[in-house]
Amino acid sequence: MAQLLRCASRTARLVASSSRSVVACPRAAALSARIASSVPSGFGGMSSSQVAAVAGAGPHRGVVVAAASTGGLPQAAFSFEPDSLPAVTAVVSPAGGSVAEVAAGWEGELLVLGVTEEDFATEAEVTSLKGESLKALDAALGGALAEIVAAGGFDGKQGAQSRVLRLYGGAKAKHVAMVGLGKAAKLAVAADWGASPFQALGAGVATLAKANKVAAVGLVLLPGAAPAAAQAATALAQITSGTLVGGYEATRFKTKKSPTASRLASLAVAGTGLPAAEADAAIKRGLAVARGNLLTRYLVESPPNVCTPSHLAATAAHIAAAAPEVFSLKVYEKAECEAMNMGLFLGVAEASAEPPKFIHLRYTPKGGAAGRKVAIVGKGLTFDSGGYNLKAGAGSMIELMKFDMGGAGATLGAARILADLQPAGVEVHFVIAACENMVAGAGLRPGDILTSASGKTVEVNNTDAEGRLTLADAMWFAQEKCGATSVVDVATLTGACIVALGTQIAGLFTPHDDIAASLTAASKAAGEKIWRMPFENDYFDDLKSPVADMKNTGSRYGGAITAALFLKQFVNEGVEWAHVDVAGPVWNDKLGLPTGYGAALLAEWATAQAQAAK
Ligand code: BES
Ligand code: MN
Ligand code: ZN
Repeated sequence: MAQLLRCASRTARLVASSSRSVVACPRAAALSARIASSVPSGFGGMSSSQVAAVAGAGPHRGVVVAAASTGGLPQAAFSFEPDSLPAVTAVVSPAGGSVAEVAAGWEGELLVLGVTEEDFATEAEVTSLKGESLKALDAALGGALAEIVAAGGFDGKQGAQSRVLRLYGGAKAKHVAMVGLGKAAKLAVAADWGASPFQALGAGVATLAKANKVAAVGLVLLPGAAPAAAQAATALAQITSGTLVGGYEATRFKTKKSPTASRLASLAVAGTGLPAAEADAAIKRGLAVARGNLLTRYLVESPPNVCTPSHLAATAAHIAAAAPEVFSLKVYEKAECEAMNMGLFLGVAEASAEPPKFIHLRYTPKGGAAGRKVAIVGKGLTFDSGGYNLKAGAGSMIELMKFDMGGAGATLGAARILADLQPAGVEVHFVIAACENMVAGAGLRPGDILTSASGKTVEVNNTDAEGRLTLADAMWFAQEKCGATSVVDVATLTGACIVALGTQIAGLFTPHDDIAASLTAASKAAGEKIWRMPFENDYFDDLKSPVADMKNTGSRYGGAITAALFLKQFVNEGVEWAHVDVAGPVWNDKLGLPTGYGAALLAEWATAQAQAAK
């Protein structure tokens, strides 16, 4: 195993840099070849001018990779997103036909019924069918549903999955199962907290499909489980994205095909009440969200020898190439960052052998420049060793610090969603100061004083508080170079935020109530949990330095708040700003997998900004 992993990592090195020495490893070479040939639309081996040519030129359109680039973006040998996703279609009920009839007539491997708690009655600990449609369908299916509930353990609770039963006799579907949507009264597309019942339904469908190794699934919402007409399109979008991201497995870095990976190839959804055209548009929205979430997961799960600053830049180029009519990209090399006096960013990058990349991906709506300019700034530490303040000992999580670009991952995931949805009325700047925090003789020393692009000086009393340094220069860029008047930064910034809110909830820090409200609304719509924390200006005393304008860390206490207060020093008068600490929710500890957190939330927020601007 160790040998295999070493080979895999050498392969990535080999792929990443032709100038590095080649280590002979046949297995690794085979893996490299397989991965390289499976890339559908990457830029492996292309020079930067070729990338620009693919994306289309023009002063504000297409892809521009700075001339000082190391030549091509070969890390793209690892794909940026899945080659293909299961096909989702909507079944429009024939006029006069009942949903139960549609379900009884559906031909395929697994028929899943969306039901609510009100579809069941439990008396003396025995559950039975109550809903009229459910009973009619049960009769058509030869009593299979009654048999499922009689076995106990399923009563329609949100996200609950029933057992799967094989159907015989006249039934068209091969298997049947049920997934719960919870209480009918709470059936809404924006839950008060966390996933909506329809997102949970999608996740349930994905889990059932995966566990039962089926390719063709039909999902029928029974009348009690149908969304209100005004919410039906969003509900279908949520079912779509929930199904497409559910049951996620990381497969790219394994040489053997996973026996447990989902085989779902098609999902047909009936019972939303939507006409065909609206249903198709809703499915497109859900697909876009799934793509963004999965792109984020691909980035966050990638080891730090694959997801380098250059790989983040290549991902931005991949997104821009997907929609060159609305995106332009500029990647600033180290020398250009020096010219912009980005002392904080370059200070952090100094010890790394990987060249830093300052990524600016700009979204301009098709209708032309919008009045409203917003920026999403993502922390892009592709690895955080801590620097001389090395992450040492149990609990330091150094081996997980590949996820320290989770903010950048969410930022690019949101851009991927916008590539598909292309909202009007807002210009969105995606900004990432990407680098590694390493240890080397040339690296940052604890105690160094650095000068930021804004001119402010910082005494670096802890090299492990590096994210805020890179973000400060990126926020300067978003305001001064992009002209953004609304800035959200998203960052795996502090362990303290995980201590405060646990692993599932992001911390929201801002002195501005309006942006707190718009981000909270986006969080509800996306089903990604966020909680506003106090913005306690008094704690800035902790960051006062006797020798520079400020220090980069304060005391042990309130670490997530002092981090936000540090960032606030780089926000201009009149600019609305919020900081989102995603150190907890980017990673699922139990599964050892990324969550894709933030892509949907940020895309939702940016889109709502467009509507607010109209
Ligand atoms: N990337 C870490 C934050 C982090 C830690 C995220 C653990 C997820 C899990 C960040 O760069 C960091 O090291 N922060 C320090 C700040 C401290 C030195 C003030 C921390 O949280 O310990
Ligand atoms: Mn750190
Ligand atoms: Zn960090």
